[in-house]
Parts: sequence; C-alpha cells; structure tokens
Amino acid sequence: MDRKIISVINQKGGVGKTTTVINLAAGLSMQGKKILVIDLDPQGNATTGLGMSNTDSSDETIYSVLNGTKKISEVVKKTKFENLDLITSNVDLSGLEVETAGDSRRAFILKDELATILNDSGEPYSHILIDCPPSLSLLTIMALVASDSLVVPLQAEFFALEGLTQLMKTIERIKNNLNPELSIRGILLTMYDRRNKLSGEVEKEARNYFKEKVYQTVVPRNVRLSEAPSHGLPVLIYDKTCSGSMSYFSFTEEFLNQDKSVESAA
Ligand SMILES: Nc1ncnc2c1ncn2[C@@H]1O[C@H](COP(=O)(O)OP(=O)(O)OP(=O)(O)O)[C@@H](O)[C@H]1O
Ligand SMILES: [Mg+2]
Repeated sequence: MDRKIISVINQKGGVGKTTTVINLAAGLSMQGKKILVIDLDPQGNATTGLGMSNTDSSDETIYSVLNGTKKISEVVKKTKFENLDLITSNVDLSGLEVETAGDSRRAFILKDELATILNDSGEPYSHILIDCPPSLSLLTIMALVASDSLVVPLQAEFFALEGLTQLMKTIERIKNNLNPELSIRGILLTMYDRRNKLSGEVEKEARNYFKEKVYQTVVPRNVRLSEAPSHGLPVLIYDKTCSGSMSYFSFTEEFLNQDKSVESAA
C-alpha cells in the first residue's frame, strides 16, 4: 500500500503546520527523496517560505487546478532546492468554496488530479506534502479526501488539545464516508518551551491519550524557525545547527523510519 500523500493539518491557526511542511520537505529532499509540496492555504505561507511569490498574478497555482482550468502537471514549479517541487497558492484560493458550490464532486478534485501525477512516471515523487489552511472548510476536506495519512502539529501550550476533538470527529467522518484508508501518521509537538511547565503537561496529556502516535521528536520554540521564512528558506538551510533545525532533522528521520517499518511489515 502506498502512503505517499500526507497532509499536515490542524484547524487551529499558528501551530506550526507550514513550518513543519517546509522543513520536512527540505529534510526529505536532502535525503535524496523527490518531494512535491502543495500549498493549499490562501495565505500562501508555504509558497513564500520556499522562496516563491504568492502575490504575482500567475494562474499557475493550485487554485487553477481546483477550479478545473489547469491540469496539475501544468502548475508544478521547481524550487531552488534540489528534489523539491512546489505548487504555489495565492489569495485567489479563498474564493474557491463559493465558486464551486454547484459541483457535487468538488471534494474529489484534488484526489483525482493527484492520481494523474502519481501515475505519470515522469515525476516519481516519494512523498507529496499538503499544507492545510487553519479551518475545516472545503480546502481541508479536499486534503482529507486526497490524503493517505496525516501529520498533526500540536502546539505545546494551553488550549492545545481543545479543538483536537473536533478535528478527530472530522477525520472519522471523512473515513466513514469519503476516504476509508485515511489514517493519522503522527502528532508532532511544536513550540515546546522547556521552561514553561505547561509544555510538559501538554506533552504528558498528548502522550497519554495518543500513545505511540506522538512523535518522540519535540520541536522547541526557536527564533530561527520564525526568521527563516522571511528569507524564503527552510530553517534546515538558513541555519542548519540551530535547535529548530536539529529537531526537524530528527523528525525527518522518525518520519522516514515509519516508511521503513511499513515496508518491512508488508
Ligand atoms: N517552533 C517554533 N518556534 C518559534 N516560532 C515558530 C515555531 N514554529 C513556527 N513558528 C512561527 O510561528 C508562526 C506560525 O507558524 P506556522 O506558520 O508554521 O503555523 P501554521 O499552523 O501554518 O499557521 P496558519 O494556521 O496561519 O497556517 C510563524 O511565524 C512561524 O515562523
Ligand atoms: Mg500555515
């Protein structure tokens, strides 16, 4: 079974979704894996964080794919990073939900388009990573329908677990109705502050509840992680020795080991 398509998802804003997508993509591509990132957020933060523009008037964005005017293969762009391709996003995407209201199959558009790119032997991506917006709107549903598995970043702060129930319910609903194979690959604790007692409490609670689904790697609060996007660089390239980079290198390794254990079980 292929588990190539992974969405990074949490409807809570600012929990580290985009940072995780960018740096997991960078980490995997540095390991020689061929990666496609899809920016599925009208904010276009994954786009700019990987050094591309989210303000040019290009129609070569994910929006054009989802409104049916372009094939997915026409909008894939090479980034300046080896092995790392990107489908950009811009604010146009925020109109999609209203514009496609009459289309009953719209939840499947992304899934169907991704099937074409996976069948196209020209681009043998090892993983496709989707950066979701902070909502449970149509865009997120499209991602849930298209994905094999999910990575959920969880901010190690107060209220972190609140809202997770709603996410889990949505995932169950999609599993039961639209995508039975969908699974949670793992939960990544982010913005961990060792000096803050609350971080430890959130970690304990998360590990208690989600058990081995919670990655061993914990991403610390690290200012370098917030600086890197303004340079259009993954932190793994911007400052490869900072604590944020160390954590994302370690997360990449854990992520790859999951692939290995699936292969050896098969
Ligand atoms: N571990 C961290 N330490 C410090 N700053 C971080 C860390 N992770 C992310 N940030 C910063 O916090 C902000 C939110 O992170 P990010 O954009 O990755 O979250 P998000 O979940 O994608 O947000 P949104 O819901 O708006 O899409 C960004 O400015 C980012 O640079
Ligand atoms: Mg984001």
